[in-house]
Parts: sequence; structure tokens; C-alpha cells
Amino acid sequence: MCGIVGYSGVKTVRQVLTDGLASLEYRGYDSAGVALWEGNAVTVIRQQGRLSRLVERIGTAHEESRCGIGHTRWATHGQPSEVNAHPHRQGRVTLVHNGIIENYLQLREQLEKEGYVFQTQTDTEIAAALIDSCYKGAPLEAIREACGRMEGAYAFAILFDGHPNCVYGIRLGSPLVAAVDDTGAYLASDLTAILPYTSRYLLPEEGELLALEEGRLSCYDGSLRPMEPVWKQAHWSVEQARKDGYRYFMEKEIHEQPQALRRTISPRIADGLPSFEVDGLPAGFFGRIHKLYITACGTALYCGMVGKALIEKIARLPVEVEVASEFRYRDPILEPDSAAVIISQSGETADSLAALRLLKGKGIPVIAVVNVVGSSIAREADYCLYTYAGPEIAVATTKAYSVQVAMMYLIAILAAGERGLADDQEQRRLVAGLEEAVERTPQVLAMGDEIRNYAKGLKNTESMFYIGRGLDYSLALEGSLKLKEISYIHAEAYAAGELKHGTLALVTPQTPVVALATQPELLAKTVSNMREVMARGGPVLALVTEDLELDPGACDRRITIPGKSGIFAPLLLVIVLQMIGFYAAEERGCDVDKPRNLAKSVTVE
Ligand code: M6R
Repeated sequence: MCGIVGYSGVKTVRQVLTDGLASLEYRGYDSAGVALWEGNAVTVIRQQGRLSRLVERIGTAHEESRCGIGHTRWATHGQPSEVNAHPHRQGRVTLVHNGIIENYLQLREQLEKEGYVFQTQTDTEIAAALIDSCYKGAPLEAIREACGRMEGAYAFAILFDGHPNCVYGIRLGSPLVAAVDDTGAYLASDLTAILPYTSRYLLPEEGELLALEEGRLSCYDGSLRPMEPVWKQAHWSVEQARKDGYRYFMEKEIHEQPQALRRTISPRIADGLPSFEVDGLPAGFFGRIHKLYITACGTALYCGMVGKALIEKIARLPVEVEVASEFRYRDPILEPDSAAVIISQSGETADSLAALRLLKGKGIPVIAVVNVVGSSIAREADYCLYTYAGPEIAVATTKAYSVQVAMMYLIAILAAGERGLADDQEQRRLVAGLEEAVERTPQVLAMGDEIRNYAKGLKNTESMFYIGRGLDYSLALEGSLKLKEISYIHAEAYAAGELKHGTLALVTPQTPVVALATQPELLAKTVSNMREVMARGGPVLALVTEDLELDPGACDRRITIPGKSGIFAPLLLVIVLQMIGFYAAEERGCDVDKPRNLAKSVTVE
């Protein structure tokens, strides 16, 4: 986790660094810091807490500095404190780091024998000392040698005494991008920090080195041979990464779902039929496999559960879904003639990346469903189906989930065709159902007042439950995660039929229950479970599609989901769940976009 940024050029670097860090703050916000070249010396300024505190502390000072590095931290080793904040300095080396050095304790012991004394509990300070101990006057040599002794993941931006106005960078397992404009050269953890200056960028491969020297950018391979940069063009505008008049990124991103969905599905529909030709997925792929593994984390995992339900129902292809952090360590038995899908918004989630590597290592072809172009998962997968949600800044994912779910529909329908379970006519009917649901999403977005009204009543709630059956259960998991991560209300999801096996004991008039009922064949059973809750005094909100009749005695309140019940209802239902979480968090005065203890991109296991 953490965000890093670096610049060398003619602009006042203070501003470039703090602006860059502001756009990277979603990666972590426990502390922030910068290191600035001033003449031949490096000045380090670090501050516990949000970036705004650092900006305040710097004020208008350091006007003359034209080169430096910055960091926004999500603590891994050591408390979120000023002393543990980056940049870290040891000897003649000052650096910022994103990642984890796994063998840092062993390195620390060796370096202590060389006479290094450490002020912090961080792995980063060890990395600074190691690079310093390898530094004989040539920065790139020192980085190469030191990185050869580190295990783990890193992206570094490094300053070396004796090389004023220069920044050096390298990555392994953590993201890094670089760019130049007519004022100088930049590096950063991701594009959002660079887009205000240029849309042309490069992605160094793992182990390649970058040198930003007096405003120029040079690239070197792992043997320190100079390389020609391979430029890429970003299609995200800087405006897309801003709030557009919404109070929160999450709110903006919820409202961007109709466009995000259309952008994602339309290139994959040809003549009314699903197709991944634009993504390079070979025709007949799903016809040749007998099993699919889906692995992911958090919300992406819950999307995987929706995928399993759809793919098994429509295409009768067996699917196993598993949380990536468990899958990677349990030595899974993988069947021949199978394939895997890794779902990840960021494309950088450490456990999902490790699961991908495990699967590939066992010869299983991997399809990535990823939002961030050029991310590690996207690059390492055999095939990548990019979702086109655009940049998602809020820690709580919303539009990225919806587009992932849309991709699950397309996979399920295509697989049904390729496995001979749906002819063209049936596939067209299903694709039309998907398109119809997408076109109805603005209707749900227009229900803000009704949903806010319900969420207001949650202001003092301490605990609540989400229940549902089948697809509704997968959505209940997502709804409860959305609520708890941003509003800090304890919320759990249960398969509706499970509640009576223990958890019903927790239901009181103070524990609201949200019952999801969008699947017609399961409605009667879910209604029975709602009644069981009502009988214990638990207030029930029913989220029911407009075509389903519901006995008013089965709930205290109903919010009607527009559109048809059945397999496409999740695309509409999830927006209501997102809005319940959003309005409850707002009502409780929470920092909606930056919930405590979390970060957007989870690059640690
Ligand atoms: O970037 P990824 O999709 O791989 O991230 C996975 C989870 O960390 C993520 O979905 C997380 O659960 C969200 N913050 C939930 O809103």
C-alpha cells in the first residue's frame, strides 16, 4: 500500500509533490512526508496524519527546491507516527517505499553489525541502510546490488547525497509509473498523480531502473544497460479523477454506474451476442473447459459469487469460488481442462496476484477481470478483460463492482453458447436482459431521497443484518460490507435460511434487518425468514423487485427495486445497497471516502 511520487525539473517541487500525494491519498493516509533537494542538501519533512497537516506545515517554505520525493503511508511495520513516516534516511540515502521487505529483520541484523543504528520499526529504514551500504558513488549500481538482497515487494523513489536534483526509482511487485513534460520528469505509484501534466507515460517492468536527473528521464534494464522508454497513452482524463461537484468520490462513483456499465458491455456485444474478441480471448474457450476457479478478495470475491451462480445456472459449468488469501496457501487440487478468473479492481491486490501466479504455475489459463490498465494482474494474466469503470478513488468500491458483475453476465452467456446450452436466440434474449437492466440503473439513482430517509434511521444503530437467498445472499454480503466499511455499523450477511440456526438470538428491536427478495422462486422462503425476524421484534426493510407481490405484514418497510425480478436484478439491487451504506455513513458523520484503517489498494497479504 502507500503512495509515492517524485519529480525533477524546473517547477517548485513542493507543489508537484503535495498535489501528487493528494491524488494518491486513497492508497493510505496514516502519515505523509517529503524530501526536497535544497542546494546540495536534502530536507526531510514528515507529519503524522492526513496530507493536509503536512501541507499546512510546509506552508510557502522551500520555494526554491526543484526536485524531491513524497509519500503517503498506510502503516504495515510500525505505528502510524511521525518517526515511522517516510521518507527515511540512512547515511547518504533518503527514500520513500511502497511494499514490504520480507527479510528485513535478517537484513537489520547484518546492517547493525556494520554499525547502522535504526530509529524506527519499519522495513523501509532497513532498505535505506542497505542501499547506503552498497553505495560507492554510483546510485544505480547501489540500487541494483541492494535490491538483489531484498525479498518482498517494493517501489522506491530514492535520493543520493552527491547527486542533487536527481531521483532514482525501481519496482518489484508494487506499481510505479513515470512520465515527462516540458518542465521535467515524474514518477508515481499511479497515473492519477501524473495525469494533470501529461497523458503519455511509461510502466517500468519489474527490476528496471529509472533515473530522473535534472529534469530528464532515463531508463535502464536490470543489467544497467540504457533502454528506450516504451510510451503508453492514458485514456483517463484528469477530470474523470475529480469529484465533479459531488461531495464525495463514492457518491460520484455510484452515479457513474450507468456510463461505466455501458462502456464495459458495449464493446463486448456484437450483433446482440456476447464476444470477447476485442480482448483476444479465443473463440470456444469456455467450450473446452470443464471447471472454472474464481478467486478474489473483498467485494471482488462477492462479485465472484454472483459469477458462480450465473455461470452454473446459465452455462452449467461448475465453478469454485474462493477467497484468494486462503486459496494461495492451501495447495488446491486443480482439475485438468480447467481455467481461472481473477477479479480485481486495482489489479494490484497481493493475495489475488499470488493466486494468479499459483494458477499459472500449475498450467491453468487465467483470465483477469481488472479495472486498472497495465496493473500487475492485468499484465501477468493470460487474458485480460478490462472493465471500463474509469478511475475509482473512494476506498469503498461501487462502480467497479457493478462492471465486474456485468462481465460475469457476459462470461455466463458466452459460456452457455459455447457449451451448447443456449442458441443464438437465447443468448440474444439474455444479452437484451442485461442491457435492459443497465438502462434502468438511472431509475435507481433517482431513488436517493427514499433511501436516505431509511438510512437516517440508522444513525444510532450498532448492529444489523442483511439476509437473502441465492443471488440475493451474494448481494447481502456486498451490502453488509459496504455498510460496515464506511459507516462502522456492525453488519453481517446471512443466507436467510441460516439465521434461525443461531444468529436469530441476536435479533431485537434494536437490530434492523435488510431482507433482499429479488429471486421469484425463493420469495416464499425468504418471506418466512422475514416473518421470523418480525416475530422477534426485529425491524425489517424489504428490498423487493417491482413485479413481486409481498404481504405487507412480512416487513416494516419496503423499497421497491425497479425492473424485473430474477437474474439481472443484482445490477439494480446493488445500487440501493451502496446508497444505504453511503447515506448511513454520511448521517453518522464518517469520512466516507477514506474510512479508518483501510486503503484502496491492498498490496500486502
Ligand atoms: O482491487 P481489488 O478489487 O482486488 O480489491 C479487493 C478488495 O480489497 C476490495 O474489493 C475491498 O473489499 C473494497 N474496499 C470494498 O469496498
